[in-house]
Order: sequence, then C-alpha cells, then structure tokens
Amino acid sequence: MKAIVVTDQAGGTAGMKLVERPEPQAAINDVVVQVHASGFTSGELTWPSTWTDRLDRDRSPTIPGQELAGVVTALGYGTTGLSVGQRVFGLSDSYRSGTLAEYVAVEARNLAPLPGDVDFSVGAAVAMPGLTAWQGLFVHGRLQAGQSVLVHGAAGAVGSMVTQLAREAGAYVIGTGRAADHQKALDFGAQEFVDLENDVLEDVGGVHLVFDVIGGDIGKRSADLIRTGGTLVTIAGPTEARPADGLAIDFVLVSDRAQLSEIVKRVRDGRLRTNIGNIATLDEAVAAFNPTRRISGKTIIRVRP
Ligand SMILES: NC(=O)c1ccc[n+]([C@@H]2O[C@H](COP(=O)([O-])OP(=O)(O)OC[C@H]3O[C@@H](n4cnc5c(N)ncnc54)[C@H](OP(=O)(O)O)[C@@H]3O)[C@@H](O)[C@H]2O)c1
Repeated sequence: MKAIVVTDQAGGTAGMKLVERPEPQAAINDVVVQVHASGFTSGELTWPSTWTDRLDRDRSPTIPGQELAGVVTALGYGTTGLSVGQRVFGLSDSYRSGTLAEYVAVEARNLAPLPGDVDFSVGAAVAMPGLTAWQGLFVHGRLQAGQSVLVHGAAGAVGSMVTQLAREAGAYVIGTGRAADHQKALDFGAQEFVDLENDVLEDVGGVHLVFDVIGGDIGKRSADLIRTGGTLVTIAGPTEARPADGLAIDFVLVSDRAQLSEIVKRVRDGRLRTNIGNIATLDEAVAAFNPTRRISGKTIIRVRP
C-alpha cells in the first residue's frame, strides 16, 4: 500500500516520504480500516510515541497521522462492536503505524460509527480537535454554564472546537491568536478576541478556565489569569506555571467512542463546524504538510477520492 513515512525527527515534515509499505494485519480486538481521509497534528513529530514503541525501542520508519475516517475491511480475532463495511472515524494508537496510508490497523474501541451523511473528510477533521476540546473543557476543566473561558489559538484546529463547545455549554468565550485570525475566532463563536501580537493578555482580567494550546511564555502568563478555584488546562506540554489558587492540568487526549458520537451528533445538527484549511491527496501530502503559505485550520489528506 501507499503510505507516508518519517525516519528522522530532526527532518520534521520536510523528511516525509511517500513509499510502499506492507498492509497491516488486524490483531486481537483490532479492525483494519481502508482510510478515506486522514489528519496529522502539528507537533506529532515531536511526540516520543512517533519514534518508539511502548518499550522505548526505535520503530522508525514511522507512518504518522492519528486521525482517520474510512471503512472497516477486516476484524481481528475476537473483535466486536464494529463490522466489515462499516463507516468509522476516530484515532489510531500513537505508538502504532498511523493513518497517512491506504490502510491502518486500529483497536475497535478507538473508533465510532460515522453516519452515512457525514463526509469522510469531516470525520477525519473533527476527531482529534473535537476529542481534545471535549476532554479539556468537560472532563478536565469541569466547565459549568455561566463561566468564562479564555481559549488560546481560537482560530486553530483545537481552539475552534473549544470555542464552539464552550459557547454551546453556556460559557463566555474570549479567544486569542494572531491579528489575522480575529474575525475567524469571532465566527466560531468567541465573544471577545485578544490579539497576542498587539494586545496585552493581562488586560483580560480573571477567568474560570484557560484552554492553552500554545504553551511557553503565553502558557506561563495564563496561570495568573485564573480566578480562585479555576483551572488552567494545557495540551502544549507540561505546565510551567500554576495558578496561585486553582488547578493546572496538562493532558494527552485518549480516543473515546461515546465522546466521538457526541461530537458527530453536533456536526450533523449544525452545532459544530469543522475547521479545514486544505484538502490534498496522498500523492500531494508531503507538499501539503510543507506549505509555502500559512494554512489556518487542518490539512486533511483525502486518501481515496
Ligand atoms: N495534548 C493533546 O492531547 C493534544 C491534542 C491535539 C493537539 N495538541 C497540540 O496542541 C497544539 C495545537 O494544535 P492545533 O491542531 O490546534 O494547531 P493549530 O491548528 O496550528 O492551532 C494553533 C493556533 O494557535 C496559533 N498560535 C500558535 N502560537 C501562537 C502565538 N505565539 N501567538 C498567537 N497565535 C499563536 C496558531 O497560529 P499559527 O498557525 O500562525 O502559528 C494557530 O492559529 C499543537 O502543538 C498540537 O501538537 C495536543
């Protein structure tokens, strides 16, 4: 089968290559999925799981990409809950071969049914950002209606999902990002916008929840914005500063069938919009992940037309 591989962390996305690889086999409780649409998250090539297995052994050349939508073509020994021919979406295991390929083997529990009226590209685009937003807001952040949320990178892939889900939950949403993203963040539902290049972040005052996708200095300064009893949730690596009188949580998402089903329900009834910046074929994928212009939103690889 055709697949994208990476062999050298220092090479970044420029080191991606389109090659031939053997098709995967389904292990116990796995399904094999014929990938129709695949997504790749910026930062994936820096995650340890991209380069090693769970025993820390080198597993390169690695097929990156964790997000997928496609059709089940085989079941592993003892696999239940999904059937051959079923449309599915979700995440592959970060320690196994990924989804920038024509086929991928995934544990069935990491996938959910994709309704027939939801396009494969849409399924691949909401899986990772949708789950990350859901878990950060509702599982780790314990968001309540009426609370205020500061969403960093509100026009990005994860931030746009956080913005929409927080608004739906009855929160007051302040988005941040680059000046060029002001209108896009408002279009996703942010009620205010802080331009991190020109405005003073601290002018926001206190909020109940910060959802940080940027980290570094922005993450550190965000700790001081948390009201008493509030939470700083970050997905950008270990928290470097903690709120004086609140919680700091950094987490890596896990796939969850029930949450994927909640997310796709919202996509179908119009409560949740995808944030797709570009769609390319597998043959075009290496160029698509090395763009010559800024792409805002997810790049989706349409593996099958
Ligand atoms: N822990 C987890 O479970 C988890 C899950 C998903 C993603 N992640 C990580 O979360 C991060 C965000 O992912 P994503 O898919 O949402 O990426 P994304 O689509 O690139 O969104 C990030 C947004 O933040 C903006 N931004 C970044 N740095 C900024 C700065 N200094 N000032 C102003 N705006 C800034 C980006 O603008 P530019 O594009 O112009 O930089 C972009 O609009 C990535 O590092 C990813 O690896 C972690």
